[in-house]
Amino acid sequence: MASDSAKQTPSGMGPSGMGPGGIGPGGMAPEKMRQVMTERYEYKGTWFLKFMVPRTNLEAMETFQVRDDDIFIITYPKCGTHWTMEIVYLILANGYPDKIDRNEKMKFGALEMFIPTPNNPLPAYKFVETITSRRVLPTHLPINVVPSAVLQGKGKVVYVTRNPKDGLTSMFSFMAKNAGMKDKWNEVFEQYISKDMLNGNFFDFSLAYWKHRHDDNFLFLKYEDMKRDPRSAVIMIADHIGCVLSDEAIDRVVANSSMDQMKKSYQKADEQNVMPAFDGQGKENLGKFLRKGTVGDWKNHFTVAQNEKFDEYCREKMAGSGLTFQFE
Ligand code: A3P
Repeated sequence: MASDSAKQTPSGMGPSGMGPGGIGPGGMAPEKMRQVMTERYEYKGTWFLKFMVPRTNLEAMETFQVRDDDIFIITYPKCGTHWTMEIVYLILANGYPDKIDRNEKMKFGALEMFIPTPNNPLPAYKFVETITSRRVLPTHLPINVVPSAVLQGKGKVVYVTRNPKDGLTSMFSFMAKNAGMKDKWNEVFEQYISKDMLNGNFFDFSLAYWKHRHDDNFLFLKYEDMKRDPRSAVIMIADHIGCVLSDEAIDRVVANSSMDQMKKSYQKADEQNVMPAFDGQGKENLGKFLRKGTVGDWKNHFTVAQNEKFDEYCREKMAGSGLTFQFE
């Protein structure tokens, strides 16, 4: 890939950047909108969506000031970012969703994004300079772009990964619903096991962070483990970020970070218009990030041949890494 070359994403594979927040600048003519939403460029070997992740934001990561008490939530898209964010916010709010200050803390999307809204005209990295600690900073940045201080031990990192068959299925479902991609399963499938995905290749992305799993400031979690035993996940996260919670508070965090409760909390936040709602639709914007929340939905999408191809690719990529996934 030529450095800094700009091109359209294949077949309009636009918003797979799909970070925390919503998608799409509202109020544009459809063709212009399509063009804006699909134009991508390469930065340090990874493709990014130009409208959502401008190059200046990525360059700013080199000098981004990490605070000692920052909590980074690092994920490849569709691996459980919003769920983990909600758990962390609930831990900080002693388990009470109404105590989460979504207006101040959550209206910027991911750290690398620029989602201008009437309430917040700043790119995320500038906006988060204005918010009080503790900051919760979700990001889908690959390891060679993420602020390097976190790799040297500053702040806390909660890294969440997910079995990539469900990750791909979740990504496709998001695109099908929000980007008119419902006929494009085969294309999304092929791109997922290539170097061409926005935000990079899932396997390369995940393996690079996996090498940091033993760092003191890293907690490396798997979505499937969180599903199987959410209470343990909450306890591990709370412990990692240095929060002591009572048993009742832990129970509240677990209950209020369930899919059903999160849907209610997000709906309320959408109604109050406090979180990023920038696709011109406003309501139910964040609900787009809550779909089935299950393990094994990939079986409803993969053909037998695709499953074999994916398994082989996965085996090759993961060989010798020690990172394994639970697919059902
Ligand atoms: P599915 O599309 O498989 O349902 P991200 O936040 O990184 O975009 O990840 C989105 C995925 O996390 C979606 O997966 C979504 O449903 C799932 N998710 C969100 N909240 C969840 C929760 N409380 N419990 C389990 N899964 C959740």
